Amino acid sequence: ELNRRESLMIVSGYATKFFQESMWDTDEGKAIGLSYFKERGFTAETMRKFELGYSPDQWEAFTGRALQEGYQQEFLVESGLSVKRDNGTLYDRYRGRVMFPIHSFTGRVIAFGGRTLKSDKSVPKYVNSPESEIYHKSNVLYGLFFAKKAIRDEDNCYLVEGYADVLSVHQAGIENVVASSGTSLTVEQIRLIGRLTKNITILYDGDAAGIKASLRGLDLILEEGLNVKVVSFPNGDDPDSYVRKVGTNAFKTHIAENRKDFILYKTDILLKDAGNDPIKRAEVIREVVESIAKIPDSIKASVFIKECSYIMHIDERALLSELNKMKLAKA
Ligand code: UTP
Ligand code: MN
Ligand code: MN
Ligand code: MN
Ligand code: MN
Repeated sequence: ELNRRESLMIVSGYATKFFQESMWDTDEGKAIGLSYFKERGFTAETMRKFELGYSPDQWEAFTGRALQEGYQQEFLVESGLSVKRDNGTLYDRYRGRVMFPIHSFTGRVIAFGGRTLKSDKSVPKYVNSPESEIYHKSNVLYGLFFAKKAIRDEDNCYLVEGYADVLSVHQAGIENVVASSGTSLTVEQIRLIGRLTKNITILYDGDAAGIKASLRGLDLILEEGLNVKVVSFPNGDDPDSYVRKVGTNAFKTHIAENRKDFILYKTDILLKDAGNDPIKRAEVIREVVESIAKIPDSIKASVFIKECSYIMHIDERALLSELNKMKLAKA
């Protein structure tokens, strides 16, 4: 219902301002939140643009203020900013965390991600808003509001894993970047990008989880009829750590030189394990053809079959017959 949604967005906007003030204008916020972001290399301009903030390390700093200002309990709880105790009183969900507001397509704040500053493994690194009437996380991409113009202009969208990746890549001048943060990539998210461009470049973390997510993501993107490329990073790096390590120019060069179409990416990864074993190589070919079989446009599919035949030194007709078999099996 419209009024409820509007109330939730108003309280989220109020919280955004509260967290910003807590970061920029209090001693605790400056000493802890602001200095954390500075150490991570974020400029004041980036922090202002993305409306980053800090939640005081107290139980009711935000909730107490919000109630005083007349915000209703119902919306504080539904937005996830406050949590209800058994005795009915409220406390702050986010305490002593740096805050990343999540914006809707039109720039309203609809949710938050809060990062702990402790390296203690027993606390979750990020706490995210629960689902609400204004926040369906499978339909949201972090950074999309700030990226949409550049995505259209560049006719490409970079897809990263996390909040910090979006900020660092954006700050490096590559503004067509979004994150699926906190959820594995969904069809709805791909369709959101698809309204702006048909081209997605995956820049996931250079660890086993990132590779696995890239392989899954590229199949999903192909199934939606979009084009997909992948850029890998060294193991242990993500786009954020990498751009800080090598600088903006080397980062851009890395992207330009390591951008692989999905066939090359997939074969490179899978062939590493296959070596010269012909059975394993056959399995790699089958897996690549499985991805090609997801492409709805059969002319595009045949172009990729040709590429696969070239890369794997295998007869194109054999690949085509395998492709057709898979398509029949799916139909
Ligand atoms: P990562 O673990 O790769 O974190 O998770 P990160 O973004 O590199 O974080 P930094 O650099 O240590 O600050 C990628 C994304 O997955 C979501 C967040 O959106 C995060 O940015 N995530 C991760 C969660 O929602 N909760 C978690 O506990 C961890
Ligand atoms: Mn809804
Ligand atoms: Mn990761
Ligand atoms: Mn990171
Ligand atoms: Mn990461």
